[in-house]
Amino acid sequence: MSNIVIIGTQWGDEGKGKIVDLLAEYAENVVRFQGGNNAGHTMVVNNRQFISHLVPSGILQGKTCFIGNGLVVDPAVLIEELDDLEKQGFPIPPDKLKISEQAHVIMPYHRRIDHAREIKKGKNKIGTTGRGIGPCYEDKATRRGIRFVDLIDPEFFKDRLSTILEEKNFYLTQYLQSESFEPQPILDEYTQYADRLAPYITNVSAVINRCIKSGQNILFEGAQGTYLDIDHGTYPYVTSSNTVAGNACCGAGVGPTAIDSVVGIVKAYTTRVGEGPFPTELSDETGDAIQKKGAEFGATTGRKRRCGWLDAVMLRNAMRLNGVSGTVITKLDVLDGQESLKICTGYEADGQRLDEFPVSLKVLADCLPQYEALPGWAESTSGIRRFEDLPFNAQRYLERIEELTETPIYIVSVGPGREETIIRKNPFD
Ligand code: GDP
Ligand code: IMO
Ligand code: MG
Repeated sequence: MSNIVIIGTQWGDEGKGKIVDLLAEYAENVVRFQGGNNAGHTMVVNNRQFISHLVPSGILQGKTCFIGNGLVVDPAVLIEELDDLEKQGFPIPPDKLKISEQAHVIMPYHRRIDHAREIKKGKNKIGTTGRGIGPCYEDKATRRGIRFVDLIDPEFFKDRLSTILEEKNFYLTQYLQSESFEPQPILDEYTQYADRLAPYITNVSAVINRCIKSGQNILFEGAQGTYLDIDHGTYPYVTSSNTVAGNACCGAGVGPTAIDSVVGIVKAYTTRVGEGPFPTELSDETGDAIQKKGAEFGATTGRKRRCGWLDAVMLRNAMRLNGVSGTVITKLDVLDGQESLKICTGYEADGQRLDEFPVSLKVLADCLPQYEALPGWAESTSGIRRFEDLPFNAQRYLERIEELTETPIYIVSVGPGREETIIRKNPFD
């Protein structure tokens, strides 16, 4: 029996979807524990691409999937995803997907507030995905949220919505100069969602803990990445949930003793979507070339991802924050053909060397990354399936990452397809 948490170690989009899909073969259950449809997780199976925003990435392997209490769920998006999966030949009955009755529901006013706030912030905007994630988590924390258990209780839902709308409408019209909402259309729309999703809603913590007791393997699927974590990321340019591995317990309703190991996904270079600091960003033709070759466009919003060199300062910090047992290096093939590569091994600020990732945005803005250069390789790596067959300089690059992170590399990904993978150690073994 083995329960494994998979998380992103950078700013998201490290390739978590591909690796969760790959490793789901060895687990009976896959659990999302935070975030919402700000996530976009890509799986490529038999040359077909699937992008999932809410349904865990174990679904194509036919595993039982869970949406934990730590998520904020837009029911319209979830239903659309279920319909799409069915059209593509993957019908999802209630025994294959379970939604926590405690997960919070994204409402239309959350999305509208998210948009209107970004407009009001102007050049100081966060660059959110506009899906209403922040405003929904905000309502959870201030105890004005609507959970699935509330949504399927018509009387309670109606009362709660009318109280909430009083305040939301005031804020929307008076502060954000946006439009207000009438309760009835929301009630009508969300009652339909409640009817459709009711068979999937359950006590997820109880079910998962039963699975653990009976010896089944669980894969916990993180969304976003360590530097988008509300506590540990580049605040305020972060998302509104804890993205680090520790939150797998809280967001799924299991105790820390249930977790056996943590796998950290590392993209072979760095990307970021949205605003915020990015010390190793490349605003030149090398950055453009990586963006193009890596097809670095957001899987949720389609925005171009900013690209830069690998940052080992960030990675060391991420290994510590998540207690990473082993890493998966993804998109190595995107670096094929680069004459030379750089890895940031430290920062210099005010003439002083910093070995830790700074917390102050001001210090971060003034940081000069200190680079180590390594020779590149000309050969294509995408057809390679054994570490020893990789070009010598690619092996050297990977071994240097292992040294700098003080963490073993379990898997190397050399293409988007499930099979385009080099497995050195299966974390379930
Ligand atoms: P996630 O949010 O962490 O699941 O990552 P995304 O799906 O948003 O972005 C990763 C992108 O890279 C997707 O388009 C994947 O299909 C693709 N991808 C994953 N691994 C590899 C790889 O090793 N090589 C290449 N070229 N593409 C990859
Ligand atoms: P996956 O799971 C990359 C970013 C947004 C923005 C910030 C806040 O696919 O790795 P939000 O809408 O969450 O309030 O936006 O977080 N962001 C992501 N960036 N990958 C993601 O998810 C992201 N989810 C949110 O771009 O900068
Ligand atoms: Mg993504």
